[in-house]
Amino acid sequence: MNKPLTIAMPKGRIYEEAASLMKQAGYDLGGDKEKSRKLILEYPDQNLQIMMAKPMDVVTYVEYGAADIGIAGKDVLLEQDRDVYEVLDLKISPCYVAVAGLPDQPLSRIAPKIATKYPKVASDYFREKGEQIEIIPLNGSIELAPLIGLADRIVDIVSTGRTLKENGLVEYEKIAEITSRLIVNPVSYRVKSQEIDELAQKLSEVVEVKTG
Ligand code: PRP
Repeated sequence: MNKPLTIAMPKGRIYEEAASLMKQAGYDLGGDKEKSRKLILEYPDQNLQIMMAKPMDVVTYVEYGAADIGIAGKDVLLEQDRDVYEVLDLKISPCYVAVAGLPDQPLSRIAPKIATKYPKVASDYFREKGEQIEIIPLNGSIELAPLIGLADRIVDIVSTGRTLKENGLVEYEKIAEITSRLIVNPVSYRVKSQEIDELAQKLSEVVEVKTG
């Protein structure tokens, strides 16, 4: 038997949708795996090995070949610009990256402070607009920053819009639409092309049926 196909799956809110898509494509990862603390899961009958990774780290596992393939958000791919192939838009977990802040607060001062966990996406966006900014890097609860005067704006993910609304913030500009993508390590793509093409093809059929 060939070495198993290794897949880096994102832990957290994307996991259920990603696992459901895999199941519909014929790769059954079983239920409740996210609740387990195990980080490596073996499926010898399907010749699969799953790694449970932080969504931001999936690309790293795939780039270094620790996983052959992975499921990663387009936000992470835009931010990290890594050497992986993006082979399929899985069209799950749709959301977008936006600029937000307190209402009625024009950006008046020079080099306004932008709090974000996406420093590259934010810098690229404002550079293209020819606006000078200062990045305040944060890892989470970004919406806190304008509320306490740490930043003039945030650049963050908006999904339902609830976090902005419940914190009295408004959206100013939309930067990019985001969905999850199937990514592949370039060497694995050559060595395991048949298995990877088969998986990508099956997933693509499921996505096609679901989204029309
Ligand atoms: C994400 C994102 C927003 C929120 C948006 O945060 O950074 O804060 O979800 O979702 P909504 O539009 O549906 O409210 P996450 O929950 O991943 O946690 P974090 O604050 O630690 O980044």
